[in-house]
Amino acid sequence: MMKQLSLLPLLLLFSLLTGNSSACTNADSKVISTEGTDVILPCSPSTRENLQYKLFDWKKVGQGGETQHEVFLYASGVQYDGIKAGQSEQFKGRVSHFEDELKHGNASIIIKKTKVIDSGNYTCDFPRLQPSEKFCIELIVDPILTS
Ligand SMILES: *[C@@H]1O[C@H](CO)[C@@H](O)[C@H](O)[C@H]1NC(C)=O
Ligand SMILES: *[C@@H]1O[C@H](CO)[C@@H](O)[C@H](O)[C@H]1NC(C)=O
Repeated sequence: MMKQLSLLPLLLLFSLLTGNSSACTNADSKVISTEGTDVILPCSPSTRENLQYKLFDWKKVGQGGETQHEVFLYASGVQYDGIKAGQSEQFKGRVSHFEDELKHGNASIIIKKTKVIDSGNYTCDFPRLQPSEKFCIELIVDPILTS
């Protein structure tokens, strides 16, 4: 009994630390692509509600989970895929959503002409849904091997 109680603060600390250090503790989906091809990163809120007038935000988790790079932001019919919205230069002009899929609760995006440096963890965030939801998608872009 005493032993179990003394473990509790440690467990709390551990969960705080792991929660902070990375935006992704486990990937909801894993997608594998090859350099130069287009890839779809899947994401849907569990409610599958119509997203046409909602907000969703895609970010890429930086090395060590410290930084977040803006990938794509959709807000009530406006898509902010420009530097103005803080979109990372790496994704400029390469990312789009699927307009016809929004009403089916599909917030997937396509990244065109993937590069090896696109590999990593992405978060798909619905900050204003009740309750809010956030998913993690891991992308692996394999290099084309030339001999
Ligand atoms: C992505 O997240 C997983 C945990 O789900 C982690 O094991 C992996 O190292 C992360 N990848 C990168 C490139 O940060
Ligand atoms: C979302 O839309 C994309 C693009 O049309 C499609 O590939 C994907 O299967 C859809 N996802 C779901 C859950 O319907």
